[in-house]
Amino acid sequence: MKKYFSENEWQIIENGFDPAFHESAESIFSIGNGKMGQRGMFEEQYSGKSLQGSYVAGVYYPDKTRVGWWKNGYPEYFAKVLNSPNWIGMNILIDDEVLDLAKVKVSNFKRVLDMQNGLLQRSFQAAFSGGKQIAVNVERFVSCTHDEMACIRYQIKPINFSGKLTWSNFVDGLVKNMDSNYDEIFWDRVAEVAEAKHLAIQVKTKKLDFSVAAGFEINCFEDQELQQEIKTTSKPWHANADWQINMQEGKTYTVEKFVSVVSSLNYDAANLFSACKSNTNQAIQLGYDALRALQINYWQKLWSNCDIKIEGDIAAQQGIRFNIFQLSQTYTGVDERLNIGPKGFTGEKYGGSTYWDTEAYCIPFYLGTSDPKISKQLLNYRYKQLPKAIENAAKLGFVKGAALYPMVTMNGEECHNEWEITFEEIHRNGAIAYAIYNYENYTDDKSYRAEGGAEVLTGIARFWAQRITWSENKKQYVMLGVTGPNEYENNINNNWYTNYIACWCLKFTAQVLTEWKQTDAAAYESFVAKVAFDETTELAKWKHIFDNMFFPYDENANVFLQQEGYMDKEQLLASDLNPAERPINQHWSWDRILRSCFIKQADVLQGLFLFEDHFDLATLKNNFDFYEPRTVHESSLSPCIHVIQAAKLGYQEKAYELYLRTARLDLDDYNHEVHEGLHITSMAGTWMGVVMGFGGMRVIDGLLSFAPMLPKQWKGFSFTICFKGAVIKVQVQDKKVDLVLVTGNPITVQLFNEKIQLN
Ligand code: BGC
Repeated sequence: MKKYFSENEWQIIENGFDPAFHESAESIFSIGNGKMGQRGMFEEQYSGKSLQGSYVAGVYYPDKTRVGWWKNGYPEYFAKVLNSPNWIGMNILIDDEVLDLAKVKVSNFKRVLDMQNGLLQRSFQAAFSGGKQIAVNVERFVSCTHDEMACIRYQIKPINFSGKLTWSNFVDGLVKNMDSNYDEIFWDRVAEVAEAKHLAIQVKTKKLDFSVAAGFEINCFEDQELQQEIKTTSKPWHANADWQINMQEGKTYTVEKFVSVVSSLNYDAANLFSACKSNTNQAIQLGYDALRALQINYWQKLWSNCDIKIEGDIAAQQGIRFNIFQLSQTYTGVDERLNIGPKGFTGEKYGGSTYWDTEAYCIPFYLGTSDPKISKQLLNYRYKQLPKAIENAAKLGFVKGAALYPMVTMNGEECHNEWEITFEEIHRNGAIAYAIYNYENYTDDKSYRAEGGAEVLTGIARFWAQRITWSENKKQYVMLGVTGPNEYENNINNNWYTNYIACWCLKFTAQVLTEWKQTDAAAYESFVAKVAFDETTELAKWKHIFDNMFFPYDENANVFLQQEGYMDKEQLLASDLNPAERPINQHWSWDRILRSCFIKQADVLQGLFLFEDHFDLATLKNNFDFYEPRTVHESSLSPCIHVIQAAKLGYQEKAYELYLRTARLDLDDYNHEVHEGLHITSMAGTWMGVVMGFGGMRVIDGLLSFAPMLPKQWKGFSFTICFKGAVIKVQVQDKKVDLVLVTGNPITVQLFNEKIQLN
């Protein structure tokens, strides 16, 4: 859907209404605040195709697994992010005709996501039978300062008639997940409230005991005049506030809806109604304009730390801001029980579950743009789930505290149920250890070791030590039956990336434990006792593995081999593919994909990205030149890694092309799937694409360095980096790079090869 939305630096704009794009637009116009979020659907009835989706962070449902052939070790359920009570609902009747954009004649339609201020706006005119016309203006936001509140201001003006307006505002709990395996509704009804002003419903999950209440109060106005004639009612699952009035031509009729959504994650289920009521009371007292002003202020402050400004290229500018905006409204770091789902609050497939995406992609974004506390929350999340990771490994036959973190999880239990991923895509364990390294390297803060980090690393190292096996044939260690990051090939032997990160985990864990023993012997000793760490034997075994591991290499192509046997495949390039057959995952059989040489996402190159400083530039170049042309980038996580490497290698055009692909992946729907939701986690990769790619930012041995390059399409760009208590602004203009210390103590950084002191 190339260029359906207009380009603008701070806004996403849909000009004109095309029902064919409605579900895609619903994804694009999603709004949230870390605690809840929803797709950009219409408030009023819409009988066309739509994915009504409102989600509450941390509230999920264990949907009974659906698989063809059961394999021992499969999880019993797949956790689904729960489509929760619909709180935006309104039915609007104009002289008894329903306002439904699939039925009336729509003109002057405009929908705007104002990213600078965190507001979603819409305006249009609707013509009913007999030529009656109304003009509509709507604005809504999910409050970021009061994260259990949301507000809507909906305005109707009859243009050429006077007539009857019947306006029914509601919350509705009878909602269903589109991706429900057995077409079930996951909610049970609890109760409804219809007081003089306050309306609410409460529902409860059929399993797991999550409860959610959603409530609201409204203010109705004829022009500026507040109206009192509101009738409240309820029926099972549903609570309603009706307003009826005889409209006068040319006057404006407004409903302000003040909403609260609360869950049993934060309250006793018995107190949800009162929490909801106290929120809606507070919201209505503050008033729409005050809450809106707070929202604007919040976003302006947030942008001052994480905005990236690109001059001379509106498409690129809009792309990066869209990515930063969506990411920032998905995860705010206030609650260590929450994480970042690949689709955040914007859709159901992949939903709100946690993947390796968090550690490999999102943590660098949060490290660079916010207080380290936020990244630490994400580390803590994994520590809290360590016991389940140990249980998970034990189910697969691993012993003595070996930990295998799940591929997909909500509460630490594995949810994924395809053997080639569940049991084999184990490289995810490496990313979790890497995030600890990244955090320490970036912040110098080693406190996480004693707070559980050492246990996490040890669990992971123990897993690798058991999963790697000795080959008598090769007289080296090997790793059999894995799936690398490239999911377009499964059950392979010696995936270079997995072998590399596994060995690195063993080395890093050994180094951390040895160092920690020296710096904090008491804490180390209690850790040894807690996890029954057999220092001599375990460290020796780990060392033997990393000193004797097999890494596949191809002498002819002079590259690390993605896996043994890769060169036996017919060697084609992505440019040989028929464009009509792309993306191949929507056109080819799975079997054909598996037998092809095409790579879904960075695999060897993912390793060279994480461990760039272990290799020289020539190695990066050889591998990039070989693998990138074979990569079809059908995972959203792919292009960004290649942007960073292309920029490093001076391949400006390639870097720019791939940058647009990652930054505008959803806006231009490169993978033809945006209707399912946005690619939230890869948005952090887009940020890395600018900052690490074009900005050339690295942190090596605790030193922050930059080596910027300016794509020829840009006049300049600038970004801000939070680093060790300092905030540094980097401005790149033609041949000039300015580094400015915005706040914090003087700090030494490196620009190209020169060390500079910023005061
Ligand atoms: C990718 C995985 C990723 C998942 C969720 C898949 O398509 O191949 O690497 O973790 O999407 O983003």
